[in-house]
Amino acid sequence: MKGIILAGGAGTRLYPLTIVTSKQLLPVYDKPMIYYPLSTLMLARIREVLIISTPEDTPRIRQLLGDGSQFGMELTYAVQEKPEGLAQAFTIGRDFIGDEACAMVLGDNIFYGNGLNHKLMDATRDAEAGKATIFGYYVEDPQRFGIMEFEKEDGDKHGVKVISVEEKPADPKSNYAIVGLYFYPEGVSDMADKVKPSARGELEITTLNDMYLQEGRLHAQLLGRGYTWMDAGTFDSLQRATDFVSMIEQYQGMTISAPEEIAYHFGWIDGDKLRESAARYGKSPYGDRLLAVLEGKVVI
Ligand code: DAU
Repeated sequence: MKGIILAGGAGTRLYPLTIVTSKQLLPVYDKPMIYYPLSTLMLARIREVLIISTPEDTPRIRQLLGDGSQFGMELTYAVQEKPEGLAQAFTIGRDFIGDEACAMVLGDNIFYGNGLNHKLMDATRDAEAGKATIFGYYVEDPQRFGIMEFEKEDGDKHGVKVISVEEKPADPKSNYAIVGLYFYPEGVSDMADKVKPSARGELEITTLNDMYLQEGRLHAQLLGRGYTWMDAGTFDSLQRATDFVSMIEQYQGMTISAPEEIAYHFGWIDGDKLRESAARYGKSPYGDRLLAVLEGKVVI
């Protein structure tokens, strides 16, 4: 199973913050935004990840994350010359994906909730068995998102049956947004090749999802009340994400979405590697909390 973080886009909604830096490197409380989607892929047990960004930002992201060995992962990088749509990630990533299943997370999407890793592992298993998975999350402003119409099937604790998917509909058929996290089976690059540009000129992920739906290979899981999903791409949502993470971390005294900690708990790195990483973070609370993990104070 492979993974992609799509971390490009012009970021103009956050100007002047993003004139000289990447949106996905902006802080969300105590760590760069991209740590959150990276952690999400790790929870799905994905260790080989391709990070796609703009020509200017790709070197900056590489400077931060390197080859991923500090997380026991393999990180590679590719450039998207222009933001021509989310589905383009799978044609840019064709060689990287090869003949494997592949997940994609948007670089500004933050997920949090107990049991998330089980949902993600289910999606990994389904992708490896030939089925795509999307995730639905209740929103009050459905015109702003990809939206899924669905019905609950008796006895299916695991997910819901998708009836339709639409990108930013004027007249939404439900209040469930399709969040920026997608799991696809082997062959997704060939499928993405067939996506035609939409009226706004983009290769839409919703068109790709609709293709899987038409083939009877699209499955959905709901992220219910126990989960938080945030897209931190505007000033207000970035501020809310920062408030949320600071509240959780200060209240619980634990870090959320720390890739080194996840890697250590999964046995992808050993204690020496974790200590090395903690040292790299200097006197920061983030580094201190990694040391607490090492001392066995935090066990999950
Ligand atoms: O956040 C979830 C939503 O993301 C979904 O509900 C929608 O179905 C999906 O189309 C997308 O909608 P957005 O309007 O949020 O897409 P946006 O153009 O803002 O792009 C999302 C992120 O991906 C953003 O951080 C920029 C980056 N991006 C976008 C495009 C179009 C790229 O890296 N490359 C691109 O080509």
